[in-house]
Amino acid sequence: VTVPEDGVGDAALFRALFETAPDAMVVVDRTGTIVLVNPRAESLFGYNSGTLAGRPIEVLLPGQLREVHVAHRTRYMDSPRLRPMGAGYELTGVRADGTAFPVEIGLSPINAGPLPLFAASIRDISETQRARRALTRSRYDAALADISRRILLAANHEAALVDIPQLLASALNAPAVAILLTDPHGDRLRVAAAAGLEGALREQLQRAPWLQALDAEDRARMDGGQVAAFPPIEGAPSPHAVVTTLPDRRTPAGYLVAWLPPPNGSDRDRHHFFGAVANVLSGAIQRGRADEQLAHAQRLDALGQLTGGIAHDFNNLLTIISGNLQLLEMAGPMDVETMETVASASRAVERGSALTRKLLGFSRRQRLTPQPVRPELLLADLSDMLSRTLGEHILVIASCADELPAVFADPGELEAALINLALNARDAMPTGGKLIISAHALSVSGDDDLTTGAYVVFSVADSGTGMPSEVSARAFEPFFTTKDPGKGSGLGLSMVYGFVKQSLGRLTLESQVDVGTRIEMILPVAQEAVVAPMPSPVSANGSATVLVVEDEPEVRRIAVSFLRAAGYTPIEAGDATSARAAFAAHPDIELMFTDVVLGAGDSGVELAMELQATRPGLKVLLTSGYEFGSWDADSGDAGELELLRKPYRRDDLISTLQRVLNPR
Ligand SMILES: Nc1ncnc2c1ncn2[C@@H]1O[C@H](COP(=O)(O)OP(=O)(O)OP(=O)(O)O)[C@@H](O)[C@H]1O
Ligand SMILES: [Mg+2]
Repeated sequence: VTVPEDGVGDAALFRALFETAPDAMVVVDRTGTIVLVNPRAESLFGYNSGTLAGRPIEVLLPGQLREVHVAHRTRYMDSPRLRPMGAGYELTGVRADGTAFPVEIGLSPINAGPLPLFAASIRDISETQRARRALTRSRYDAALADISRRILLAANHEAALVDIPQLLASALNAPAVAILLTDPHGDRLRVAAAAGLEGALREQLQRAPWLQALDAEDRARMDGGQVAAFPPIEGAPSPHAVVTTLPDRRTPAGYLVAWLPPPNGSDRDRHHFFGAVANVLSGAIQRGRADEQLAHAQRLDALGQLTGGIAHDFNNLLTIISGNLQLLEMAGPMDVETMETVASASRAVERGSALTRKLLGFSRRQRLTPQPVRPELLLADLSDMLSRTLGEHILVIASCADELPAVFADPGELEAALINLALNARDAMPTGGKLIISAHALSVSGDDDLTTGAYVVFSVADSGTGMPSEVSARAFEPFFTTKDPGKGSGLGLSMVYGFVKQSLGRLTLESQVDVGTRIEMILPVAQEAVVAPMPSPVSANGSATVLVVEDEPEVRRIAVSFLRAAGYTPIEAGDATSARAAFAAHPDIELMFTDVVLGAGDSGVELAMELQATRPGLKVLLTSGYEFGSWDADSGDAGELELLRKPYRRDDLISTLQRVLNPR
């Protein structure tokens, strides 16, 4: 090792400085050959003293960089002043044993002798980088903890999402961050929360062509919980953007997108953090959606119980009123005015019973006669009728997938439900619009509230006003209406809901303000053909002895009067015990007419089973204010028993009684 001594004052002092400098120093000549190194350089790169000088500077660089470096250095050395290299380059150094480490390099030409020389001071920044990385990581950890805590403490998941983009953006130094959520169909995106995102970009994100722009590999990576490059879109705040899926069980709950500052060494940590936030978000969204659905179902259930109970009692009252009115009619000739009064009261009873029927529909206590129904026939009939009646300003489009199986549902109620939905759609499009009614097949497996199997989805979509979330959250509730008093009863959707539930299906609602609403009825496919009951004609007066079991004395009194007037011999009982006694005392009883709910926990169905067991020929006619859909567990196989709905009219009672007494 020699120090050029021409003109330098105190050579010994400079040599000492050079030898003891804390940074590695390397001096090369124009050909890139090392002419001088200090001990720190030798020890940093792991060379024995004196073994570095004479070698090309490139031995200190990774193999793949050497060639480039030669070209680069030649250009620099040709005109160092024009191309200052300065200080602060971060490069990778390679030790004698081949291991690499990060270095920072300062370069400068030395004009101290006849030949130009170049000096490099080199500093090992492994520690600095490690510290920097640790710092970044702990910043990410803190941000993740903060985000998780906010989500846990938030009242609901939508509220929790609001602050997340800003937190994420500042942790990542990102110019913009957006959380996109999918609708239940997974085909529409909505920016649920964002930071640094202006309107046009927001629109572009929601329109989602970027999702199609992702290639299969990116999608697979995203769905595997990793981060993919977000395709460049116009007006983006940075060319570097990443996206990942917010995973959910079936379709993704949404996507998390961030526009990042230029890539740097800690990209892995950054992506890792980003992915972790996405997972925390997904958890929150899932929990929130599950909570909402549960609360919604529970609220509707509780309402169903309540309305069902009220409707039942109300029906009994209506039976009494209508019975008394009919007794008045039978009592003898009336003057015109009295006749009008009675007729008006009878009409009110009819209206009341129509109302209770709707309530029972909602509380899933309607009597349904499910049959196989062909969707394409139903839709064809319906779309004709609707295009004629809804008005010219509404374009009705019906479409039905090919070769759909028949659904198993009450045809009348199914049609009523579709009409109800269409009327709602019409009301939502006062200035006109499009109504699309369609049906397609759906196969369900592993679902919470639908049994595994084949279903048909009836969808009614409109381009109307849509519903804000506070309306859509309550739309299925009975009496919930936004219409003017007298315009809507608020029972339309609740009936549809009850009907679909009782038919073992599911009703879904999806709505966006100013865009439209789509309501879907998911109904099970018919398994086997079911024969419709045959109507039988009403014949002349009867004479049979009939046991009337009814715990409501008023209702009983009316039934007895009806029967007596029609020539029958009624025998009364107010509960199951006296019914048994009366039955034993009158072997001539041909038929028992009994309420299903007899008070004190007794059931007319059980009573019927019991008495039929002792006298097999006994005919039974049930009556109830509830409209039982199917006779389930606790009522045994009473499905074969005829049921008369309350309130019944006299002719209903007599004709049904005759049908039971004289079956075809
Ligand atoms: N297609 C739709 N578009 C916009 N809002 C709707 C739509 N369908 C229902 N709604 C909202 O839901 C509410 C409840 O609907 P529902 O059918 O139960 O009752 P209603 O239409 O108000 O009264 P009714 O059907 O008894 O005459 C409506 O008042 C309306 O605010
Ligand atoms: Mg309605």
